Amino acid sequence: MKTWTTLKIRKCKGVERIACVTAYDAAFARLFDQAGIPFILVGDSVGNNVLGYETPVPVTMDDMVHHTAAVARGVRDALVVADLPFLSYQVSDEEGMLNAGRLIQEGGADAVKLEGGAFRAPLVRKLTQNGIPVCAHIGLTPQSVLEFGGYSMHGKEPAEAAQLLADAKALADAGAFAIVLECVPDSLGAKITEAVPIPTIGIGGGPSCDGQILVMHDLLGLNAPENSPKFARRYAEIGAAVSSAIGAYIADVKSGAFPLPRAKKP
Ligand code: KIV
Repeated sequence: MKTWTTLKIRKCKGVERIACVTAYDAAFARLFDQAGIPFILVGDSVGNNVLGYETPVPVTMDDMVHHTAAVARGVRDALVVADLPFLSYQVSDEEGMLNAGRLIQEGGADAVKLEGGAFRAPLVRKLTQNGIPVCAHIGLTPQSVLEFGGYSMHGKEPAEAAQLLADAKALADAGAFAIVLECVPDSLGAKITEAVPIPTIGIGGGPSCDGQILVMHDLLGLNAPENSPKFARRYAEIGAAVSSAIGAYIADVKSGAFPLPRAKKP
């Protein structure tokens, strides 16, 4: 077994905060794993961060299996959680089960993540009862961005906040091992965290959540700052480092400074 299992993530609640990050390939996944990250999400944000789409909506099951398998190959200790993409579980629970199975069997994921509230509880129950661990995701659920009309905070109105609280409880009761809370007021993040027995993982969910997740492109400064959400923190400026390295390489090739002549053997 890996060092990080869903059981160990559950046990972190109230004991230790959980740092989570997305990854989409083996090279970065290996670096994150070696640095000691417990939880790596192969997010369907691969669509907007890697594949050049505007949203995660066009991402397919084949895309997710491909990227999940790459991440799984780079990881030794971290829990690898893979997103079920848009329309891979919404049409029927049967399709959801089969597609979750693909992420586990073909992709090598340890668990799957899916979006939606209490109405998703029956599928979460079926998956967990059949041995597939599920991370739930409520609040701003990016697969519904077309329906929402954009990326904004959820749960500001009392009725919506009450619904999100009920959703979190229903998903925990159905067997989810963790819940991502995306873009909800800090006070609601705190309330849900207190109310459920499983870890909450915030992304714009406030400091009271049991863990935090950031998209690697936001964390590492690979995205233009204006494309990163306000709540994200940039821990490096890798994008700028890449631009400057490529600029220096172009200049060296043009000037003949690279490559240097090979040293002659004595
Ligand atoms: O796909 C993703 O990166 C996610 C995070 C926003 C939690 O679902």
